[in-house]
Amino acid sequence: MYSQTEHCIDFKMALTRLACFLVLLSTHYFFTVLAVILRTTDKAPWANEFDSIELSCLVESISTKNPRIEWKKIKNGEPSYVYFEKKISGDLENRARIREPATLVITNTTRSDTAQYRCEVTATNDQKSFDEILIQLVVRVKPVTPKCSLPKSVPVGKSAELGCVEDEGFPKSQYQWFHNNEEIPDDPKTSPKFFNSSYVLNSETGTLKFSVVRKEDAGQYYCRAKNDAGYSECSAQIMEVYDINIAGIVLGVLVVVVVLLCITVGICCAYKRGYFASQKQTGNNYKAPAKGDGVDYVRTEDEGDFRHKSSFVI
Ligand SMILES: *[C@@H]1O[C@H](CO)[C@@H](O)[C@H](O)[C@H]1NC(C)=O
Ligand SMILES: *[C@@H]1O[C@H](CO)[C@@H](O)[C@H](O)[C@H]1NC(C)=O
Repeated sequence: MYSQTEHCIDFKMALTRLACFLVLLSTHYFFTVLAVILRTTDKAPWANEFDSIELSCLVESISTKNPRIEWKKIKNGEPSYVYFEKKISGDLENRARIREPATLVITNTTRSDTAQYRCEVTATNDQKSFDEILIQLVVRVKPVTPKCSLPKSVPVGKSAELGCVEDEGFPKSQYQWFHNNEEIPDDPKTSPKFFNSSYVLNSETGTLKFSVVRKEDAGQYYCRAKNDAGYSECSAQIMEVYDINIAGIVLGVLVVVVVLLCITVGICCAYKRGYFASQKQTGNNYKAPAKGDGVDYVRTEDEGDFRHKSSFVI
């Protein structure tokens, strides 16, 4: 009696289980067959500019024969059609095509293609008749040649700033500096060569700032702008570092002062003496050759005496 009841309960449970199983199976079947379900192989693809890229939109399940496929591009929150009524439109025209079943292939990407793209499939004969997939595309742009600026020559002990800028690269460029073809580390303390250098390197902005320039900082510098798409470099330029010799400058100034003093004193003396003596001296000068002339004339000719006198008067 007892065991029969138990048997009956067992049977009921088995029935319930079977019913449950059948229900599960049918719902599974129902949704699998009558639903459109999309998937992608890459939700966040990237390409370098001018390369091609696939935005994959695969149909996992569908029962409608000719589903409606659309692609939209969403940039700054604004959606626009990329593929509509079986035609590529907008700025992708002539640069993109659809590959079965719904994958969008862009053949020559440009930087303006960086955006969100939405693959939308409408399958009217399916119970769940719509599905969409969102894909974020990034088109990387290689940096162009950066503009580099550095002082041609800097005195020892002064500060100096070297700059490097590049605006085309996407994602934004990072910067490296090279000194005599050796990369300058972010932290000078990590390298024996740069250990005592006073610079601060900012790889985000491209500036290399020396607070106190040393002789060893002189040399050839160039900068590299880089991102995931590649890099570009400016041509190397020389930065000279020269000594300011304080003792030398003081000595130089002293020498100049002394020389100026000597010249001043000399001119004064000469001027004083010369001013009083010039007339006497010129008188003597005239007298001496005049005398000589006179003697000559006297010695050679008697008549010359008159001439001599007149010349003396003149
Ligand atoms: C790709 O597009 C650029 C302009 O965006 C053009 O200069 C270049 O020639 C194109 N390349 C190909 C292979 O079509
Ligand atoms: C750095 O400076 C210290 C002290 O002036 C000196 O002893 C050391 O040799 C210097 N190191 C290098 C690599 O020049």
